[in-house]
Amino acid sequence: MGESSAHAQRNKELTLFLNEQKSSIVETWLQNVLLPSNDPFYEEVKKNGYHTIEELISFLETGSLERISLLTSKIAKERIEAKTNIGDFVYNINIGRSIVYERMMCSLLNEDEKGEGVMQMQRYFDHLLYLSVKDYTALKDSIIDRKNQFIQEMHHDRLTMLGQIAASFAHEFRNPLTSVKGFIYLLQREGKKTDQSEYYFDIIQNELVSLEEKISQFLYLSKMRGLQDKLEKIPVTSLLKEMLEFMYPRFTEANIVVQSNFEKEAFIEGDSAQIKQVLLNILVNAVEELCEWNGERTIEVKLKSVDETVELSICNNGKPIPEYLLENVFQPFVTTKSLGTGLGLSVCKQIVEKHNGTIEVNSKEDFTCFTIKFPGI
Ligand SMILES: Nc1ncnc2c1ncn2[C@@H]1O[C@H](COP(=O)(O)OP(=O)(O)OP(=O)(O)O)[C@@H](O)[C@H]1O
Ligand SMILES: [Mg+2]
Repeated sequence: MGESSAHAQRNKELTLFLNEQKSSIVETWLQNVLLPSNDPFYEEVKKNGYHTIEELISFLETGSLERISLLTSKIAKERIEAKTNIGDFVYNINIGRSIVYERMMCSLLNEDEKGEGVMQMQRYFDHLLYLSVKDYTALKDSIIDRKNQFIQEMHHDRLTMLGQIAASFAHEFRNPLTSVKGFIYLLQREGKKTDQSEYYFDIIQNELVSLEEKISQFLYLSKMRGLQDKLEKIPVTSLLKEMLEFMYPRFTEANIVVQSNFEKEAFIEGDSAQIKQVLLNILVNAVEELCEWNGERTIEVKLKSVDETVELSICNNGKPIPEYLLENVFQPFVTTKSLGTGLGLSVCKQIVEKHNGTIEVNSKEDFTCFTIKFPGI
């Protein structure tokens, strides 16, 4: 007899044997599986047992493992719904494998048939186990993903709501603050002045201005602004010069040399109060950074128009931004300063992007540069 017909003969004997033993294998298997009596798929488990042996027979006949994926995806789905532990699940499949193995070894099949049968059966169960666990894990992962997504959405909704509440609080603080400022000013003007009271009034005014600034920053960040955006044609070069003049006392106080390089006037469209805020936040950061620097202190400001884009850069020397921080400097509440709120740069990003622009940071050994690009008009 040729090898292939001997092989066919062995498989024929094996399939005959398995067909004969099918019910008994499934019964023994059902007695040994880890399955609670209230399993919602109890009846299906029995059918799956039969189906498993039938697929093994089909594998012996055809040599193909293709069809078992239908069975494994059904089993995996049921086990997920029944909330079966993966350990029990794998154990149950292996119990099936052991019973088939023992039956074969104790059968009247000849040695060649047993050898062939065990080899094929192992291959079949390996594949069955692999696909079942794979399907089971994929389903579990998708459930976890869905839950995570749900949690994230809920979290996001809550954060949005909290943000809105906080923003409306901030908004409501503004009006009383303005009247407090106004009345303090009246008291300061009309009251009896002493050096001491002048000193106190100055402190109160400064604190109120700083509080007002923080509230404005916060409102810029939480989309709900106090003012409607006022779109206008902004001469950015002039605006930048104005901000440099405004900051001049702080530059001299900190001994900072400012180098500027402007081409002709450039224009963008937007809200000039907001663009001022962007420039101010970046310039203040540069000054604060340089105050920590013992060497020569320089800020370099450039503005040029390239094609349709207005490109503005503000650079300072000093210590570079640490690498771990670089990716996150535009995130709110990222700060390395003991009294910083970490809102400055996130406000800048929000405003710039609202003006269809981009903002980037580049921090090297000796220079930190913020580059902003706006569409020119
Ligand atoms: N020019 C710069 N050079 C070096 N580090 C900088 C520079 N600008 C910003 N950083 C770093 O980025 C961080 C975030 O800056 P951001 O302006 O957002 O917040 P802050 O300045 O810390 O607080 P505030 O809300 O008062 O502005 C700073 O704490 C600092 O570590
Ligand atoms: Mg800042």
